[in-house]
Amino acid sequence: VYLSTFAQRIVRWQRQHGRQHLPWQHTQDPYRIWLSEIMLQQTQVTTVLDYYTRFLTRFPTVQSLAQAQQDEVMPYWAGLGYYARARNLHRCAQVIVKDYQGVFPPHSEVLATLPGIGPSTAAAIAAFAYGERAPIMDGNVKRVFCRYFGIEGLTHLRATEKKLWELAHQVLKLAPTDLDMTAYTQGQMDLGSQICTRGTPSCAQCPLQDGCYAKTHQKQHLLPTPKPR
Ligand code: ADE
Ligand code: SF4
Repeated sequence: VYLSTFAQRIVRWQRQHGRQHLPWQHTQDPYRIWLSEIMLQQTQVTTVLDYYTRFLTRFPTVQSLAQAQQDEVMPYWAGLGYYARARNLHRCAQVIVKDYQGVFPPHSEVLATLPGIGPSTAAAIAAFAYGERAPIMDGNVKRVFCRYFGIEGLTHLRATEKKLWELAHQVLKLAPTDLDMTAYTQGQMDLGSQICTRGTPSCAQCPLQDGCYAKTHQKQHLLPTPKPR
C-alpha cells in the first residue's frame, strides 16, 4: 500500500474520470452543499436531482427555510423517505439562523454538532464549502479503504470504524499541503460508486490498483468483511 500518494491519485482520477456535472458541484455555497449531502445520505443521485432543484426554487436560502413552517417543507421532501431528515433539516436551518447569524460554521467539528449532520457529512460540507482538510468516511468510502488497505472486520463495529477514520486522517497528513479537497472528497465518493463497487469492482480502471491489498490478494469479494448470514 502507498499511503503518501493515495489522495493525489484520487484527485487526478476525479478530474479526468469523476462526475463533473452534478448540480451541487462547482458551488461553494454551504447551504446548497449541505442540502445535497442531506438528500444524498440515504437516496440515490438520480432520485435526488429533481427534488434538489424543486427544493432550492422554493427555499433558495437558509433564511427562507428557517422562516417556513415545518408543514410547508414536508411536501418538498415527500417521496424521498427517511422523513426525520426533513425535520432535522428544518431544525438545523433554524439553529444556523438563530445561533450562527445565518452562516454555516466552517469547521467539521462544529458542523457535526448540528441536527442531522454526522461526522462524515460534516467533513464533506467543510471540505466542499471551505476547503477544510477533513476526511469523510461514508459507506462507499469505507469499502474503498477496507479493500485498498486490507482492513478486516465488520465496518459498523467500533474497532473497525476507528481504524478506518485513523487511516483517513493519516492519508491527509501525508498528502501534499495544496491537495484539492473538493476533488479528493468528490473523488472518493465517485470511486466508490463507479469503480470500487460492491459487486464487481472495475480494478483495471482504478487509480488505486497499484498497491491495492484486495486486488493483489484477489479478496475484493471478502472486503469489506461480509455480514455473516
Ligand atoms: N453522495 C454523497 N455526497 C455526494 C456527492 N457530493 N456527489 C455524489 N454523491 C454523493
Ligand atoms: Fe477497489 Fe479494485 Fe481499486 Fe482496489 S483496485 S480500490 S478493489 S477498484
